[in-house]
Amino acid sequence: MKKPWAGRFAGKTSKIAEAFTESISFDKRLWRYDIEGSIAHAMMLGRQGIIPHKDSAKIITGLKSIAKGIEAGKFKFSEELEDIHMNIEAALVKKTGAAGKKLHTARSRNDQVALDLRLYLRDETKGIISLIKNLQKTILSMAEKHSSVIMPGYTHLQRAQPVLLSHYLLAYIEMLQRDRNRFEDALKRINILPLGSCALSGTTLPIDRAYTAKLLGFEGISENSMDAVSDRDFAIEFLADAAILIMHLSRLAEELILWSTEEFSFIELPDAFTTGSSIMPQKKNPDVAELIRGKTGRVYGNLLSLLTIMKGLPLSYNRDMQEDKVPVFDTTDTVKACLTVLAQMLPEIKFNKEKMHGAAEKAYSTATDIAEYLAKKRIPFREAHEVTGKIVLYCIKNKKELKGLSIDEFKKFSSAIDKDIYSRIRAGDSIKAKTSRGGTAPSEVKKQIKRLKQVIK
Ligand code: ARG
Repeated sequence: MKKPWAGRFAGKTSKIAEAFTESISFDKRLWRYDIEGSIAHAMMLGRQGIIPHKDSAKIITGLKSIAKGIEAGKFKFSEELEDIHMNIEAALVKKTGAAGKKLHTARSRNDQVALDLRLYLRDETKGIISLIKNLQKTILSMAEKHSSVIMPGYTHLQRAQPVLLSHYLLAYIEMLQRDRNRFEDALKRINILPLGSCALSGTTLPIDRAYTAKLLGFEGISENSMDAVSDRDFAIEFLADAAILIMHLSRLAEELILWSTEEFSFIELPDAFTTGSSIMPQKKNPDVAELIRGKTGRVYGNLLSLLTIMKGLPLSYNRDMQEDKVPVFDTTDTVKACLTVLAQMLPEIKFNKEKMHGAAEKAYSTATDIAEYLAKKRIPFREAHEVTGKIVLYCIKNKKELKGLSIDEFKKFSSAIDKDIYSRIRAGDSIKAKTSRGGTAPSEVKKQIKRLKQVIK
């Protein structure tokens, strides 16, 4: 097969070099965007009189029929033709002859590939944003459904203070909201037309970039042709946003793994989203959650890959940049799969309310409430903290719980403690009193649910 750039060459490309430099095996995924971009380019060329109208029309018809062929699985991708751009162009020339040969006027693969990747990422980013939204909605309905469940909140993985399960769930909605905002922000920089930069310096032909941008729905046009063909920071930004997102998902996944252990027994994972052991008949393993945690590694790796590919690259286009696609594709696939499976699995989880509540009542998790009780009685907080610490130590030594202490025992530590202390040391009382903004009190959580419903929409 004759290569579109064969003119300058006397010899043939080695098969090994061909196999080494090809990208069609992975960039064929971009076919839809490549064709979309080419149709807009052909329209612009025709409108500007750079190519005859009838050729532009032939090109467009040809490209549309190629799209149908690819969709139907009838298109034969060839490694000899290197990449998606040359594969489609060669097919077009075969279909339309001289007209097809005019498509690549005022265009280079350098601006073409930048265009394809931007179109691809624009779609994928929107898709990911809507999957995040869907996951947020799922979590929000769980928070509403389990609004009265009490659990221990942890620091250092030690029981710290009682919280509402809803409050815990809303924390993830907040993280996801920032993730969403990050992707929305990235979209602003993705949604810029690079086409018309050509190889690197622009063109002598009278193109109309604004028209192409309008056809393709771009918000803006790149202002420097050298920058436009050699910039991949929009993709790096996308990968960074994805890395942060999956970091959040991995934390949720880790908690599901922990909570489903016999040791915690806070939740039971659904059969449909767990797997068995090939040797231990009793096992029910949290593999889905573990894989979300595990896949975080490749998403981080993809970010580091592209950062490293781009590091120190001289302007403008270098073939190194072809290596951008695999990490980008892998990240979109991975992140979408994780968001989808989580949204399906989460609502099926059974919470063991008694166990969660019971754990929140233990481990002196309302000690801070006692210290704050004393602080309200004008005892400096540092002193109140120390007094309460001594109460806890006394409980540990005498194998008692805070609520099991008599008023005389309390008074031994501070005369400021009265009988009303007993309405402060149960998990439920503690939660009810945490009415500070963003706190875990049911009244506050209700407000947050209401607010988040608006935010998520
Ligand atoms: N397959 C190439 C890539 O993905 C397309 C651009 C090639 N440009 C070039 N001058 N070799 O980056």
